[in-house]
Amino acid sequence: MPPSLHADPGSARIVNCPVWWDPNKIPPEGLDILAYMQSFLSRERYLENARNGCVIWGPPGTLKTSVSLGLGYSWAQPGPDQPLVMFQEFSSLMVQIRSAWRKDAAETVAKIHERMVKPDLLILDDMGKRAAPEDAETAITIFDERINRGRATLFNTNCLLDTERGREEFTSACDSRTLERLSNLAIDTKRLPNFRRANAA
Ligand SMILES: Nc1ncnc2c1ncn2[C@@H]1O[C@H](COP(=O)(O)OP(=O)(O)O)[C@@H](O)[C@H]1O
Ligand SMILES: [Mg+2]
Repeated sequence: MPPSLHADPGSARIVNCPVWWDPNKIPPEGLDILAYMQSFLSRERYLENARNGCVIWGPPGTLKTSVSLGLGYSWAQPGPDQPLVMFQEFSSLMVQIRSAWRKDAAETVAKIHERMVKPDLLILDDMGKRAAPEDAETAITIFDERINRGRATLFNTNCLLDTERGREEFTSACDSRTLERLSNLAIDTKRLPNFRRANAA
């Protein structure tokens, strides 16, 4: 039986958490990575160890989303100052920013910016899908402000950051400075198999 992350799963909350994710169903291979992340990216140690954020990269299906939600879940435990933890797909953020430029938009770019800067921990999933430069620019200002305010950001990406092509793909959605900052703390899931394939079989 994999170890349970929390005795009372009902009370920790991740805003926008994908419905498929179950805190008690992270495969054991992912629990190793999660334990490693928890050792230096806990709420108490994050700023000391990862002021600029952390990037988790590797091929599709290698538990990047799952382990980052696991870390988010350990942050989101209830308490007197329960942190706000939010999950956000990068492509959906790009769509939101794109529609905010319209005159009749329900939400302004400034509102999106405020909403994305607010969480104590933001999990930005699937970075690296090509973004229009002006939308990426807005995302970059969000990342910068999060760093300035000492708020934690976990970036997940399928871009293989040990290849030129992967780095190019990643920076097409933000910029090279963002990647440089994240390079201080990059975790890869290359050694893991594709769990999506295993689950589909
Ligand atoms: N905690 C979990 N609860 C339910 N399914 C899980 C969990 N962890 C992993 N899986 C399964 O493994 C697959 C791959 O994990 P995922 O985190 O989506 O990989 P990646 O983000 O690297 O593509 C998921 O699509 C899901 O089917
Ligand atoms: Mg994923």
